[in-house]
Amino acid sequence: MGAGMCVPKRLVTNEDMERIVDTTDEWIVERTGIHARRVISGDESNASLAASACLEALSKSGVNPREIDMIIVGTNSPDTLLPGVGPTIQGMIDAPDAGGMDIQAGCPGSLYAMAAAAGGIASGIWNRVLAVGSEAFTRMVDWEHRSTCILFGDGAGAVVMGEWRPGLPRLSNIDLKADGKKHDMIVIPAGMAAEPASPETVRDRRHFVKMNGADVFKFANRKIPPYLENFCASCGITPKEVDWWIFHQANIRILQGISQRMGIPSEKLIVNLDRYGNTSAASIMICLYEAMTDGRIKSGQRVVMTSFGAGMTYGAALIEC
Ligand code: UT7
Repeated sequence: MGAGMCVPKRLVTNEDMERIVDTTDEWIVERTGIHARRVISGDESNASLAASACLEALSKSGVNPREIDMIIVGTNSPDTLLPGVGPTIQGMIDAPDAGGMDIQAGCPGSLYAMAAAAGGIASGIWNRVLAVGSEAFTRMVDWEHRSTCILFGDGAGAVVMGEWRPGLPRLSNIDLKADGKKHDMIVIPAGMAAEPASPETVRDRRHFVKMNGADVFKFANRKIPPYLENFCASCGITPKEVDWWIFHQANIRILQGISQRMGIPSEKLIVNLDRYGNTSAASIMICLYEAMTDGRIKSGQRVVMTSFGAGMTYGAALIEC
């Protein structure tokens, strides 16, 4: 498993946000832990970030794009609904034998992509798959709404997956869940079949993300700790036996709340939301990339990745490195 990542060039700090909405650096840092985020500009796009991340993952894995059978992109902010990001980047990275598709499953979209890849590999349908989390989410947020626009950033992360061989990191368990009765906690109401674009939907800003932040906050803090305890038990390990925890980079207070409830020391958390904000489906992939690349994650260690988001979906994966 080789990993890659890409974030946009443009850095938007909290001081920059103070000039856009009625907020302060102090409020954002205290309530979220975020200091800055990256925002696409110029000719950057969801697909350009995803393609760069994929090319780096391929190069780190020593795999030629021509050997890829499928590209699965977890995303909630495709450049266009048709085509998806997966088929678009199939052309950009020159992977002529690969299929391409998107999975829209909220922030755990990259976990869903990894699970689909693992299933396809285990069943023998595919040999090598690119599992990607990529977002241009800042294009979906209302830059006049201060409690959502300060949270999100853009970016992409990718891994090359294939049949496990000794010496390589192993995806030894993955679990996906959803609580669809709470599907209205995070929504983009208009612009699709339910509410096609109209002057009214544009006037009422219904093409942007609407989120009940407080309910999402409670959902994560209540649901995820017992879920992760059960996930670890299903893997035959205790949370103490996990070396590194990669939580969806939603809000530092959510990470602290979950880890405190579970007795996880803060040194075991991989955190980058201070620099990138919440990059939705890309967040755990970017964390994985950074911690693999800077040597924090070492051979023989156990990593649990977990995420939650619109749907409300959630899930976890155990990687034995
Ligand atoms: O990817 C998963 C998706 N989403 C999440 O994980 C989000 C989870 N939720 C959160 O992270 C937090 O709920 C937020 C960061 C969105 C909000 O933080 P909070 O501590 O729950 O604040 P709040 O919504 O309870 O608002 C408290 C106050 C309000 O003012 P009043 O009504 O008390 O006067 C807000 O208007 O803070 C105000 N506020 C702000 N003030 C300055 C909200 N946003 C801002 C802001 N700057 N950016």
